[in-house]
Amino acid sequence: MDPAPSSSDDPALGEVVVSEADIARRVAELGAEISTDYAARTPLLVGVLKGAFVFMADLARAIDRPVECDFMAVSSYGAATKTSGVVRIVKDLDLDLTGRDVIIVEDIIDSGLTLQYLRRNLLARGPASLEVCALLLREGQQRGDLGLRYVGFSIPPDFVIGYGLDVAERYRNLADVRTYEGAP
Ligand code: IMP
Ligand code: MG
Repeated sequence: MDPAPSSSDDPALGEVVVSEADIARRVAELGAEISTDYAARTPLLVGVLKGAFVFMADLARAIDRPVECDFMAVSSYGAATKTSGVVRIVKDLDLDLTGRDVIIVEDIIDSGLTLQYLRRNLLARGPASLEVCALLLREGQQRGDLGLRYVGFSIPPDFVIGYGLDVAERYRNLADVRTYEGAP
């Protein structure tokens, strides 16, 4: 038997940081903004697995333009909880980025080190443009300007789960973004 329910009576579920309704409203706004900004182009959305898969699915459908979708998976070397900045590509893109208008779709920017690596790596492939769309930005954790074109919400430092974000692969299916009150 599985002792940990991924349901509303799970004691590890903390307060709602961003509600399902707020996410839906903001994703619609981001989609409209991207539709306007890319009016004459076909953006290639690059989702960073696994955390971005829920956001990516909603964002893609909020864009009223032809889009193409691809995914990559990265993992950071070193300590489990903090990004070291040394990133390994676990699954690379299927599509060629040459001349494409690429939008990196991320779940959350914490230190920003993963994104810095991705940006450098993808820029080297010769896209026509490269922008970033992140659902969440953890306040005050980044050094330097990350050049984030689209951000859903700035949130406080607490660790969060839901809407794609996990702890040991759990909780990605929660509709709200919540704090995590379980064992670290
Ligand atoms: P960064 O390189 O420090 O910006 O780390 C970003 C990555 O760490 C995200 O793409 C997430 O996969 C993961 N991450 C950071 N904060 C959280 C969190 O609060 N909940 C779940 N995953 C997180
Ligand atoms: Mg993760």
